[in-house]
Amino acid sequence: MYIQKITTGILCTIFLGLFSGIALADDLDPLANSMIQLINEIQKNRVPGGEVKRFNQGKSLGCFNAEFEVVDDIAPELKKGLFKKRGRYSSQARFASASTFDDSDKDLRGLSIKVSGVEGASLSGVNGEQHFLLNSYPALFVDTPETFYKFIQATYQDQRWKFFVNPLDSHLKSLWIIFKARENHTSPFDIRYWSTTPFALGDENVVKYSVRPCSTVSSELPDTLTENYLRDAMDLHLSRAPVCFDFMVQLQTNDEDMPIEDASVIWDEDDSPFQKVARLTIESQAFSTPAALAACEKTSFNPWQSLAEHKPLGRMNQVRNRVYSATSRFRLDQNSKLESN
Ligand code: HEM
Repeated sequence: MYIQKITTGILCTIFLGLFSGIALADDLDPLANSMIQLINEIQKNRVPGGEVKRFNQGKSLGCFNAEFEVVDDIAPELKKGLFKKRGRYSSQARFASASTFDDSDKDLRGLSIKVSGVEGASLSGVNGEQHFLLNSYPALFVDTPETFYKFIQATYQDQRWKFFVNPLDSHLKSLWIIFKARENHTSPFDIRYWSTTPFALGDENVVKYSVRPCSTVSSELPDTLTENYLRDAMDLHLSRAPVCFDFMVQLQTNDEDMPIEDASVIWDEDDSPFQKVARLTIESQAFSTPAALAACEKTSFNPWQSLAEHKPLGRMNQVRNRVYSATSRFRLDQNSKLESN
């Protein structure tokens, strides 16, 4: 079923490419190239001469050693790739704030997971690693990478309001999603995360991912929200009990309500509930020391660091491939030059 959808998608892309001059090969994609250029400019200019932070999910709240355990009782159609058989994997989990550096500001949070020791070749990058990138809201604030690019352009010009309310090309749905998604969370350990974009599950299925907390304790919002209250909440949580998250997949059941090419559409959980395939566990550890936070800055994640069975789908994911590798290389290179000066 999904092969058929992909074929239709590819044919449409070829048609659009031929008739609009858009180059199709990933490394020739002008949209990805333009994004890389602008993102690198934005990253570099944020703190001139200073450390380059990630364009998105820039504040590292913490990186943690974790265990990713693929569970036993998985429905047969979900037993694909990493989820084929029960197993325990060492992994890393990075929690971050999307666009702010002061925890008292409302924001989206991100969760990036790197599972190590995975059998099978990776689509790009390092064999043996499977990455998952998730946001704390079930829909992305933009539908397509083209819209995302307009947002990046507006950010570069420091005129984000124009992107949202320009009468000739407004993006009010984006504004609404951001309004709903930004929150003062009690803790990054207390909330759910979603992939928002779809991924293959073997040859036949398409899924989105979500991660849901299953810890025995949770945090409370402090009376005063300080600059690093989220790290304090994570520290306190770990001193009381381990952190537990269920890792789940949601099967696509139809193309109309659960589109591949519009990341701003939430796939209804009543139509297709998320099903648990793994558990992520984090034990107490020193994650907020200067050394641990510096090491966290040196990490990078990419949805294409993936087994073929979990291939990222849709044009949004396609564009992300080169954008992540090129912008993270730029960030890490700039920072290592800074260190050696
Ligand atoms: C065309 C669309 C997108 C673009 C251009 C984009 C761009 C970026 C960039 C440049 C980074 C920083 C990379 C680095 O310096 O290592 C990043 C990080 C991130 N993005 Fe995206 N992104 C896109 C879509 C998405 C989507 C759909 C999600 C949904 C979950 C997402 C979630 C994340 C997360 C969680 C991180 C942090 C990764 C880390 O921990 O290193 N992004 N994104």
